[in-house]
Amino acid sequence: MPANLLKGKVISRSIRDTIRGAVGELADQGQRPGLAVVLVGDDPASAIYVRKKAQACDKLGLHSVVRILPESTSEGDLLALIDQLNADPAIHGILVQLPLPPSMAADDVLRRIDPRKDVDGFHPENVGLLLLGQPRFVACTPFGMMKMLEHAGCELKGKHAVVVGRSNIVGKPIALLLLQQHATVTICHSRTQDLEGHVRRAELVVAAIGRAEMIRGDWIKEGAVVLDVGINRLDDGRIVGDVDFAGASERASWITPVPGGVGPMTITMLLWNTVEAARR
Ligand code: GUN
Repeated sequence: MPANLLKGKVISRSIRDTIRGAVGELADQGQRPGLAVVLVGDDPASAIYVRKKAQACDKLGLHSVVRILPESTSEGDLLALIDQLNADPAIHGILVQLPLPPSMAADDVLRRIDPRKDVDGFHPENVGLLLLGQPRFVACTPFGMMKMLEHAGCELKGKHAVVVGRSNIVGKPIALLLLQQHATVTICHSRTQDLEGHVRRAELVVAAIGRAEMIRGDWIKEGAVVLDVGINRLDDGRIVGDVDFAGASERASWITPVPGGVGPMTITMLLWNTVEAARR
């Protein structure tokens, strides 16, 4: 039987209703959650993401500020802007769009954001809190993936989850979140031996490697849940994930399509975190 689809846009709807309600309650108290999005340079893909984030704020009644700085901006000037946003009472969340130009030290920039305004969940203090099982702000993509698993009614306790990819933005935080829900978690990466063997044993597969269709459909265990974070453009222009979708969906119980799966959850969870920042 073909797998059920986990579509981020659909799952987002009810979460966005909750956010709208929370924004309304804050408005009754004379408060409006505010998000500042900072983009350095003119990378077209980043510019699209930034615009989408601002549009989503407008739709749900959040205040948003977009600051676009030229590629030639010095790190000092960017840090000064972050200081200014840290001190601005109308701004509850700050997001610096990645990647930054190679001349900048992204770690130093992310560290400068007030951790209480770090709605991306990238500040070491927030990463540390997640590690300790006391999450404050969780990175938006893994946070959205946990909401998707909740939607699928996926019981995680004791399940064998295999996370393929160890990035700070997705692989590591989703592994910690799954562990917190009592899954048995294996993290695989580019040097893992017998990736196929690991994936074959997984009841939940998280694919976040950034390699088109690297995980073959016949590796997927019958009834497994598959979350595919990959967005890869093929030479023929098609966008595909890190998993062979057609093959995997014949075996999985639930699977995220690409596009339209995990992607739409990310912005929704960013708004969620911004409302949480304002509430606190
Ligand atoms: N670039 C790609 N994804 C993200 C994200 O979730 N946050 C930020 N700040 N930059 C990104």
